[in-house]
Amino acid sequence: MSKSVIIGEKTKNFKKTIEVASDKSLSIRWALMASQAIGRSRAYNILNSEDVNNAILSLKKLGIKIKKYNNFCEINSKGLNSFSYKNNTIIDAGNSGTFARLIMGALSNSNNTVVIRGDKSLSGRDFQRVIKPLNMFGVKIISKNNKLPLKLKGSKFLRPIKYYEKKGSAQVKSCIMFAALNTNGQTIIKCKKSRDHTEKLFKNLNLPIKIIKKKSFDIIKIFGKKQFKGFDYKIPGDISSASFFIALALLTKDSKILIKNVNINNTRTGIIDILKKMNAGIEVKNKKIYNGEYVGDIYVKNVKKLKSVNCSSNSNSRMIDEFLIIFLICAKAHGISYFKNLGELKNKESNRLKIAINFLKMIGIKVTAESNNIKIYGNPKLELKKKYEIKNFNKDHRVFMMTCIAALSLGGKWKIHDKDSINSSFPNFLSIAKSLGANIR
Ligand code: S3P
Repeated sequence: MSKSVIIGEKTKNFKKTIEVASDKSLSIRWALMASQAIGRSRAYNILNSEDVNNAILSLKKLGIKIKKYNNFCEINSKGLNSFSYKNNTIIDAGNSGTFARLIMGALSNSNNTVVIRGDKSLSGRDFQRVIKPLNMFGVKIISKNNKLPLKLKGSKFLRPIKYYEKKGSAQVKSCIMFAALNTNGQTIIKCKKSRDHTEKLFKNLNLPIKIIKKKSFDIIKIFGKKQFKGFDYKIPGDISSASFFIALALLTKDSKILIKNVNINNTRTGIIDILKKMNAGIEVKNKKIYNGEYVGDIYVKNVKKLKSVNCSSNSNSRMIDEFLIIFLICAKAHGISYFKNLGELKNKESNRLKIAINFLKMIGIKVTAESNNIKIYGNPKLELKKKYEIKNFNKDHRVFMMTCIAALSLGGKWKIHDKDSINSSFPNFLSIAKSLGANIR
């Protein structure tokens, strides 16, 4: 039986300061990068969630020494490709597309065959996007329909590649970067813009990387096989987790929130730019840098009138995980909001495009969808009174959290299933919501 939550009333106005869960992308990247370093690495404030814990368990199975202490996680490794595991070792990425795809790149140079599997949601997702470039390096991968579970056997004779990444996927780009790190010679990636955490890590560790930034794509050149030393890393909050409470404050009358220490890397802050265009009261304060990544406090206050937005698809990757909650905010805005080229939303933990359209229609919002573009006809007076039951969303953590915010800000009587889905990225989501006064049973 899936565990569910019941929400039957809107949250009253609040004025609070919170911190959200640590950044998932950075936590997973730190663990992978530390597994390739020589000596000791420590991460402070690493995310304690199922996706990250599956990454850590998998790396341990691959022979990497990892220990969790009270306030840090420590990895001791022996440098590039120091994995040591028996042939046909099975690792389980759980729900994490990021870990499954990035570890494939990191394993490109290793001897023994490894089986990578994932949960039901991850096993339905496309891996052709990483299999193709890895095959070009010389990595052998056996899979059914380019999905998990798959078998990967690295090569001692990797060839550097030239690759054009057209989806704007940071997971594909980073998978190639990890393979490039383990390959002699120069790998060149031309890639549509996407989050650049892996590039920042490479730069911060003084690895041989050159990045040429063009208007709509980047060119990344990496010389592989350069060893590097272990490093310490401090992980800020995740803007994707913060987005749910940004929305709750925006949609709750007379509310204010300050969300402290959030990663505000420019490749992740599309939601802030969109909300500013919508006339939302949002600003970033107290900017600082942790290990090459910008961090700041996000201040949000409820305003009387939110405007609709016409969103250019150039920014899609800068808010790829925030679309669900942005659509909900648009449902309460004045006017029609437009979003284009949303095809990648179909390839997430669930088909988020389909789920979003059905959800908005269910709450009485007019939506028109044509190929991968949608129009949302906002209704600032939207107030819900009916009963709603939400299930069968592939246990997608972001669908669960968006639905809770809808229930807490729009009213209605809700039963929302699969509450454990939040353990992927934001295990204390419900307790933070309750600390703001939300009545959730
Ligand atoms: C991520 C990249 C994005 C994002 C995911 C995390 C990453 O996926 O949706 O939650 O850490 O690289 P894509 O690269 O598939 O767009």
